[in-house]
Amino acid sequence: MTAKTRFLCAAMIAVALPSAGRAADPPASIKSILTTCNACHGPKGVSSLAQTPSLAAQPNIFTQYQLVFMREGGRKPGAMAAVVKTLTDDQIRDLGAWYESLPPPPALKTGEGGDEARAMAIIKPRHCDSCHKEDFSGQGETGRLAGQRPDYLIKALEDFRSGERRGRGMGAMMEVSVTLKDDDIQTIATYLAHKP
Ligand code: HEC
Ligand code: HEC
Repeated sequence: MTAKTRFLCAAMIAVALPSAGRAADPPASIKSILTTCNACHGPKGVSSLAQTPSLAAQPNIFTQYQLVFMREGGRKPGAMAAVVKTLTDDQIRDLGAWYESLPPPPALKTGEGGDEARAMAIIKPRHCDSCHKEDFSGQGETGRLAGQRPDYLIKALEDFRSGERRGRGMGAMMEVSVTLKDDDIQTIATYLAHKP
């Protein structure tokens, strides 16, 4: 092998490796079901449907838990009732990993960016940021809130406040939302939706 061909081989491997290693495609187990999910949640997990959450960059465990809650009845599945019933545990695991691997939804740029000082005066005493993280990217079973659709954030907080959504039933979200006024919910949702 001449120095020149050695160099060419090395260059070809260097080009081939990164694209082979990237999880650009979903695993076979969820490839076909994703066409159904994408119809509502958007092809890259960024939703453009009213009251329908973006799923991109949600923590893996959070997505898995929510799908199990909806399949087992701990959370009302609403529009997802038919499809969530068919999901196997393996598919739920792969869906969790898939959505976590997608780039986060872009922060909302339109409309008022939300009053940060007012939002923080509601958020800080309730320690929202200690569970959802300082940048609201979520962790473990705690969802990402940054860049989420504001109409969905409002619905979720109203559902926790009224007890309509119990989730894991540990009551953390019910406890923090019960003292929120409609106005507070609006302020938080606007602020978080504009957060990158
Ligand atoms: C017909 C529309 C529709 C389809 C199809 C659909 N979803 Fe949903 N999904 C929704 C709506 C609406 C919600 C919000 C429910 C609520 O308000 O509690 C939701 C909620 C979720 C949540 C909870 C997210 C969160 O932030 O709490 C996850 C996870 C999810 N869907 C995953 C999926 C997956 C995976 C599929 C495909 C197997 C799927 N969805 C198919 C409409 C849909
Ligand atoms: C003790 C930890 C904790 C605190 C404090 C907390 N959260 Fe949560 N939050 C969670 C967990 C866990 C979930 C998932 C709940 C479930 O469905 O089981 C959640 C879910 C949510 C959701 C639904 C996300 C989605 O995509 O469905 C919203 C919105 C939310 N929290 C907003 C807030 C806000 C706003 C505050 C402060 C007022 C707050 N949280 C304080 C732990 C916390």
